[in-house]
Amino acid sequence: MNSVKHFLQFSDFTRAEYDHLFERARWIKAEFKAYRKYWPLCDRTLVMIFEKASTRTRLSFEAGMQQLGGSAIYLNSRDSQLQRGESIEDAAQVISRMSDVVMIRTFEQAMIERFAAHSRVPVINGLTNEYHPCQILADIFTFIEHRGPIQGKTVAWIGDSNNVCNTWLQAAEVLDFRVHVSTPPGYEVTPERAGLHGTRHFAQFADPLDAARQADLVTTDVWTSMGFEAENDARRRAFADWQVDVEMMRAASPQALFMHCLPVHRGEEVAAAVIDGPQSVVWDEAENRMHTQKALLEYVLLGHVDGAQQNPQSGT
Ligand code: CP
Ligand code: NVA
Repeated sequence: MNSVKHFLQFSDFTRAEYDHLFERARWIKAEFKAYRKYWPLCDRTLVMIFEKASTRTRLSFEAGMQQLGGSAIYLNSRDSQLQRGESIEDAAQVISRMSDVVMIRTFEQAMIERFAAHSRVPVINGLTNEYHPCQILADIFTFIEHRGPIQGKTVAWIGDSNNVCNTWLQAAEVLDFRVHVSTPPGYEVTPERAGLHGTRHFAQFADPLDAARQADLVTTDVWTSMGFEAENDARRRAFADWQVDVEMMRAASPQALFMHCLPVHRGEEVAAAVIDGPQSVVWDEAENRMHTQKALLEYVLLGHVDGAQQNPQSGT
């Protein structure tokens, strides 16, 4: 079971593996845009288990798997026996005998770790309370497409120190860039919860303008993540000064990009003028979920595939 390649958090892969994934995503995207078939996962099945809502994650995995020649099955935990008390360990045993790869969106990271420990096939984290590694895979690929390598660059994270923020922090350690974080008091980064090994790759700022200063990328996310809705009113009050607005973008580098994992609340965490403005690359970012996850599916199932290699069934 040790040889199964899970993707449960960003720190599961090395920089060399990310370099490979970004290169494969670039090739897979170009082939797809050129209408050339690439079906290396013919007859393979992805099972997607959702315990929280999704638009992008479901669509990008389902479309991506089909484009690779495979198929995807959507399992809402409400309709499965998990909801009626079947253990995660038993579910993992059964589901992984009928599928080739599993994607899970759930609450606690511990659930996905337990599932992976009993799965015969690779398990991919499609978002937990703690992490969202597929999102940052797409975000960094998008940055590279627009601005080149991310090594040595500065990312400003404005807002909640949530699953997406934690994953940016892990990525900074693996890929060697910096994250400048500004959160309201009481919502600061917890390095242990983020799964960090040190503090060399990030700094916390009380004033969001200071975090944004000279940044190469400014990014944020909703003030209230899924599962924390009971805190909505308190969070709206606490985060009111943490909106990414035009002034904040002016403090960043003139070349700075703006990203948001979506869905967005315009007028809360970001001003409409920013997310709909010229520095925003949020639609590329969303589309790249699909291309990068296709590279990820290829990698966890087939390992290192050479650029020129084609499946005999690809029919190009
Ligand atoms: N960014 C993201 O994961 O979106 P969904 O919640 O729509 O999947
Ligand atoms: N932090 C958000 C991300 C949604 C894609 C959440 O967990 O709800």
